[in-house]
Amino acid sequence: MKRTAWLLLVALLLIGLVPAGCSKQSGKLQVATDATWPPFEFVNTDTKAIEGFDIDVMTAIAEKADLDIEFVNVAWDPLLTGMAQGTYDMAISSITITEDRKKDMLFSDPYFAAGQIVVVGINETKITGPGNLAGVVGAQIGTTGAFEIEKVAAATLKTYDDIGFAFQDLMNGQIVAVVCDNPVALGYVGENPTKLKTAGGTFTDEYYGIAVAKRNADIIAKLNTAIAALKSEGKFDELSDKWL
Ligand code: ARG
Repeated sequence: MKRTAWLLLVALLLIGLVPAGCSKQSGKLQVATDATWPPFEFVNTDTKAIEGFDIDVMTAIAEKADLDIEFVNVAWDPLLTGMAQGTYDMAISSITITEDRKKDMLFSDPYFAAGQIVVVGINETKITGPGNLAGVVGAQIGTTGAFEIEKVAAATLKTYDDIGFAFQDLMNGQIVAVVCDNPVALGYVGENPTKLKTAGGTFTDEYYGIAVAKRNADIIAKLNTAIAALKSEGKFDELSDKWL
């Protein structure tokens, strides 16, 4: 074969080896998740596997949409930065769809409705909801819960990389309240009914979406078709029963 023919062959092989949309060597789409947010995404202490509602949702979507995915466990702050920079292909991590985040990444249609709720110590009498938060209040860094605390003048935000440590500090009396997504809060209250209680009800309306890196715009339609199909098949109800 002539030299040009060889070069053409090599070029064609290279094109075939690099599927559109995946920059990683494994060829799988990397799905980032911060597995510190039970029951949506957390590490099973026995098996060390990442589990939860979101993990099952994403797995079901990938199956429907014929996407080859792998989960990558990344802390919340670098997860958002990584999505903005295109480090990961997608992320499922109880991510509230916000106008601000939409500037940095794309979102699928909503797949879950949640909202913020205040959790206090069992003996707390003064704090009855977000309106009268006062003192040091904990939240995971960069979350919608942290943004709500910042709106309250009498509250001082203390941020955590892992919400589990915020609840630990609350039970030890280091902070006066925690603000986070209601299903997560109810999980911690349910596990510590003699130490924790909710103060008021859910006070924001938020919708979780799957985040997609801007370079992967072609994936959005596939995700939305799969979400719609799974909704009508009752898959989300089944997973809610399993995890929530
Ligand atoms: N829904 C909240 C937000 O988007 C908190 C999500 C935190 N997720 C997590 N896996 N740590 O800000």
